[in-house]
Amino acid sequence: VHVSVRLARLGGEPNPLAAARSDLLARGVALTELTDTNPTNHGLLDERVLEILARATRRAGRYDPDPRGWLGAREALAGRFGGEPDDYWLTASTSQAYGWLFTLLTDPGQAVATPTPGYPLIEPLARLADARVADYRTHYLHPTGWEYDLDTVRAALARPQTRALVVVNPGNPTGAYTEGATAAALGEACAARGLPLLADEVFRPFVLEAAPPPAGPPGRLADAVGTTTVFTLDGLSKLLCAPQVKLGWIRASGPGHERWAPHLDRIADAYLGVGSPVALALPELLELADDAVARVRARLSGNLATLRAVFGDGGYRVRTAHGGWMALLDVPPVLDDSALALHLLSTAHLSVHPGWFYDLDSPAPLALSLLPSPTAFAAGGAALRRAVDALA
Ligand SMILES: Cc1ncc(COP(=O)(O)O)c(C=O)c1O
Repeated sequence: VHVSVRLARLGGEPNPLAAARSDLLARGVALTELTDTNPTNHGLLDERVLEILARATRRAGRYDPDPRGWLGAREALAGRFGGEPDDYWLTASTSQAYGWLFTLLTDPGQAVATPTPGYPLIEPLARLADARVADYRTHYLHPTGWEYDLDTVRAALARPQTRALVVVNPGNPTGAYTEGATAAALGEACAARGLPLLADEVFRPFVLEAAPPPAGPPGRLADAVGTTTVFTLDGLSKLLCAPQVKLGWIRASGPGHERWAPHLDRIADAYLGVGSPVALALPELLELADDAVARVRARLSGNLATLRAVFGDGGYRVRTAHGGWMALLDVPPVLDDSALALHLLSTAHLSVHPGWFYDLDSPAPLALSLLPSPTAFAAGGAALRRAVDALA
C-alpha cells in the first residue's frame, strides 16, 4: 500500500525505491522483508475465521439490504464495543469508511485536518473524495513518546475550509495513543468550530509499551472527547488479522451525532458495500477477537524485544512504541533515510520503509513491521544491523 501511495503522490513516476524493488523481484531476487504488515503472510489468521464464513455463506441465500448493514451484526458490535446498534454503519473496510465520511463531511475543495507524521493512505482517500488535507504535527521526545503540537491542530482547524479532525489512535507508524487531557483538548478545539472528529482505532487493542502496563487497551477516544461528534472507525483487517474478509464499521457518538445519520444513510444506501456472508458471520467472528489480539500482541512484543536487543547500542535507538504494528528505528547518520533504504535494498536485499513514507521529521528513522515470524524477524534484524554497521 505505502509504496503505491507514494507513487501516486509523486505524480505516477515510480520512486527510486519502488523501481529498484520491482526490478529485483522481476529478476527473481528473494528479499528480506521487514515492511510487510499483511497479517495473512505471517501465520496470524485464525483458520476458524474461514470456517465461520463458509457456514455463514450457506445462510446468505436471500438478500435483504439495509444501508447500515444487517441488524444482527450491528447488535453484536454494540454488544462488544457499546452504544446502540443504530449508531453503527458496516463498510467493506476502514478505508471505505474514511471515503464515506470524507464524502459526508466535505464539499469539493474542503479539507480534513490529518496527523503528520502519519498513515499515508489518508491523503489519497481524501483526494478521491475531492477533499484536501491540512496537516497538523506531533513530535517525538525520547523516551516519553509523541506529543501533539496543539498550535498546529488549532491552525489546521482555523482554516475556513477545514471540516473535520482526523486522529489515528494509536498512530501509524508512531504507535502513540491520544488520551486524557490531550483528547479533551482536541475535542474542545473541534467543538469550538462545530466540527466532528474522526477516530481511526484499528490498532487500539494492540498495546505494546504503554505505561503502566494496562489490563486492556486504552479507552476509546470518543469517551475522552465528550464535547463533539466522534466517528470511530474500526474493522476486521487488524482486529482479526483478516483484511481479505472485507469488513469495517463506523460508530457515531457524542453530542449532535444524530444529525449526521440520515446523510450517512444516503451514502451507505448508494453503495451497500458489505457482503451478506461476512455480515451474517460477524457475531461469531467477534468471539474470536480476544484470542486474535492476544496472539498478535505476543508476536509484536516479542519482536520489539528482539529489536531492542539487536539495536541496544552502537548509535541505534528503537523509539518508544506504545502500541500498533510498527517500530521506528533511528540509525547512525550514515546516509539519509531515503538513500539508506535504497542502499539496503540493492546491496543486502533488505526491504525497509524510509521515514519519509510517513513524513517523519529528518533525520528520519526507518519503519519496520513487527508482524514477521520471530525467526524471520530476528534474522532480518541481524542482517539490517550488519548492513548498517558495514556502512558506518
Ligand atoms: C491506520 C490505519 N487505518 C486503516 C487501515 C485500513 O484498514 P482496512 O483494511 O480496514 O481498510 C490501515 C491499514 O493498514 C491503517 O494502518
